[in-house]
Amino acid sequence: MAPVPTIKLSSGYEMPQVGFGLWKVDNPVAADAVYNAIKAGYRLFDGACDYGNETECGQGVARAIKEGLVKREELFIVSKLWTTFHDREHVEPIARKQLADWGVDYFDLYLIHFPVALEYVDPAVRYPPGWQYEGDEIRRGKATIQETWTAMEGLVGKGLVRSIGISNFQAQLIYDLLRFAKIRPATLQIEHHPYLVQQELLNLAKHEGIAVTAYSSFGPASFKRFNMEQVAEVGSLLEDETIHKIAAKYNRPASQVLLRWATQRGLAIIPKTVRPPHMACNLASIEFDLAEEDIATISAFNRGIRFNKPSHYFPTDLLWIFA
Ligand SMILES: NC(=O)c1ccc[n+]([C@@H]2O[C@H](COP(=O)([O-])OP(=O)(O)OC[C@H]3O[C@@H](n4cnc5c(N)ncnc54)[C@H](OP(=O)(O)O)[C@@H]3O)[C@@H](O)[C@H]2O)c1
Repeated sequence: MAPVPTIKLSSGYEMPQVGFGLWKVDNPVAADAVYNAIKAGYRLFDGACDYGNETECGQGVARAIKEGLVKREELFIVSKLWTTFHDREHVEPIARKQLADWGVDYFDLYLIHFPVALEYVDPAVRYPPGWQYEGDEIRRGKATIQETWTAMEGLVGKGLVRSIGISNFQAQLIYDLLRFAKIRPATLQIEHHPYLVQQELLNLAKHEGIAVTAYSSFGPASFKRFNMEQVAEVGSLLEDETIHKIAAKYNRPASQVLLRWATQRGLAIIPKTVRPPHMACNLASIEFDLAEEDIATISAFNRGIRFNKPSHYFPTDLLWIFA
């Protein structure tokens, strides 16, 4: 297997360009998925409070370390601050809880998951807290992004996290954050696939020295289980005829073409799968190069379609993060 390339972050640390996504990895299989992924060669794991599986993911890590497959310092563990913990006094306690769940004493990267603060929910009451306060009720919190970012910087100072970053942020707020950040965001994690290319946001990130990680690289595939009408309206990228034609040229599966399109554009990727054959396949996507004309053909799929919006998951007139 070819070594996984790394991206040098503004924090000075190297981040693997191909990692493993942990959203919707169900609890009973999460430990095995992480363990199998380490065996397959993954070193970066993309977790979050909201995924509700950090304890089990940590168990997979512990087993791999115990068996001598890998050392902690060879792993790159990513986690995220959930929206209900944005107040300055909640950032460190929740980061410490998440570290304890993973069974590690630092995160390599800790991201603000979404640029919106919701009202605090005590982890003893409900964990993970999710979007809704109770029933369908959304209660926004009072913390500004500056308050939250300053608290994130405090985590770096205490050695609890090595790098900090943002997710689901767009240009205006990034410019604002760069005005007050003492530590600049090392990475920006965004939804990115051929239906949502976001070239201008990528240009901004490049110019500001912020590495970008793509999530939901297979587009609608990840959102099938939510019965979203937006998914039904567009075709599957994994079954798309043009993607298949390109894939046939290289004798590669469509999945690898979608992933390589992203990494050749300079992004990191974090595909999720619970199937060992898919794990190996996704990691091997770096082993070939697409021609520029094929990259351009895939980029021309862009339709500005965003699947990962709260308003797609539950009825809400109160939370329009990407409006
Ligand atoms: N920051 C955020 O707000 C945010 C939002 C969404 C996601 N993320 C992160 O990004 C990661 C990846 O995104 P995602 O989970 O939405 O979606 P994804 O990686 O685009 O797609 C996952 C889906 O594709 C299937 N799949 C994986 N490899 C495949 C292959 N080689 N061939 C065919 N099907 C394949 C998986 O099924 P099987 O498991 O059956 O293989 C699963 O249904 C997440 O797990 C999470 O870590 C972050």
